[in-house]
Amino acid sequence: MKKIKIGKLEIDSYVYIPPMAGVTDLAFRKMVRFFDKETLIATEMVSSKALMYNPNQSLMKLSPDEHPVGIQLFGHESEVMAKAAVLAEVQGADFLDINMGCPAPKITKGKDGAALMKEPDLAIEITKAVISSVKIPVTVKMRLGWDECEKNAPNLASRLEQVGVCAFTIHGRTREQGYTGAADWNAISQVKKSVSVPVFGNGDVRSPHDALKLLEVTGCDGVAIARATMGAPWLSMQINQFLKTGSFLPEPENIEKLALALKHLDELIKIKGETVGVREGRRHLINYTKGMPESAQIRAQIGQVNSRYEAKELLSRLKEELLNRMEKNNFVKEAETSKFKLISVK
Ligand SMILES: Cc1cc2nc3c(=O)[nH]c(=O)nc-3n(C[C@H](O)[C@H](O)[C@H](O)COP(=O)(O)O)c2cc1C
Repeated sequence: MKKIKIGKLEIDSYVYIPPMAGVTDLAFRKMVRFFDKETLIATEMVSSKALMYNPNQSLMKLSPDEHPVGIQLFGHESEVMAKAAVLAEVQGADFLDINMGCPAPKITKGKDGAALMKEPDLAIEITKAVISSVKIPVTVKMRLGWDECEKNAPNLASRLEQVGVCAFTIHGRTREQGYTGAADWNAISQVKKSVSVPVFGNGDVRSPHDALKLLEVTGCDGVAIARATMGAPWLSMQINQFLKTGSFLPEPENIEKLALALKHLDELIKIKGETVGVREGRRHLINYTKGMPESAQIRAQIGQVNSRYEAKELLSRLKEELLNRMEKNNFVKEAETSKFKLISVK
């Protein structure tokens, strides 16, 4: 593939795993790197204002072996954002992303996140300040606009490119839509046409085929995949493999997923201690076990675990269920085969 150039950063991946608060922490990113060394990935969003009080925020902690990785900042004060950007650069981030897409009222009411799309002049001022304070490439993640009447992403992106933004991630929904409805990939293509730097199209991609379709519809350079990677840190590897070669890599077997779930929990515990690690790990364990047969009851209990021991016990019980089922299925298969043989002998 042709490398995607984000300023001086060159990446060998069509996939970007964009920020997800409460998800894309160091433990999650380690799980992704276990499968895929190339994919672009970013931290959870970090408050520029909070960094002024506590510059050592653990949210910005990066591991030396996880590059290429970016740090996402949110805020609406140029000076504060510029200072925060310097702190992020010092952490070793390969790029810095400005959040202009978060729809949460607690963020937008302070003029942060998607609210910046309503104030394009302020968005430009902040971005200029950030760009002039760091040497690493600066990117912007935004939505189509504030609401149906104000879909200004193409115009805003073009203005932001002129002040030096090196790439965009465009989530094909407005702030008003939140996460409802389907992402509008055609509207993303309008943004792609309005700039010459790389654009990652984002919204509702769940599989290698979806990724290919998004690239075809939007003309984007890459695809940003968020929710579908939860409980599936191998997905970016599968999508890259498909887009680069046309071939499919299988996803791990259910039994392997259980081992990966425990590995993820252990990474969280290593970084955050058992109490916080297990509390934050519950959602991941639920995600890894999604769709497993006969799992509803055990998954409900997994959602309430309080210790690693409890989590391991439940995952082991689930494994037993799966093994029993496989045995049964093998038996069924054997029975079918022998039946087939009998028929063929006849
Ligand atoms: C739990 C969660 C947390 C998110 N946190 C952030 C964030 O911190 N910054 C951001 O720009 N977008 C955030 N997003 C939005 C995603 O990056 C992405 O734009 C959105 O989920 C659409 O992509 P998808 O359909 O692939 O999930 C978050 C989404 C989810 C589900």
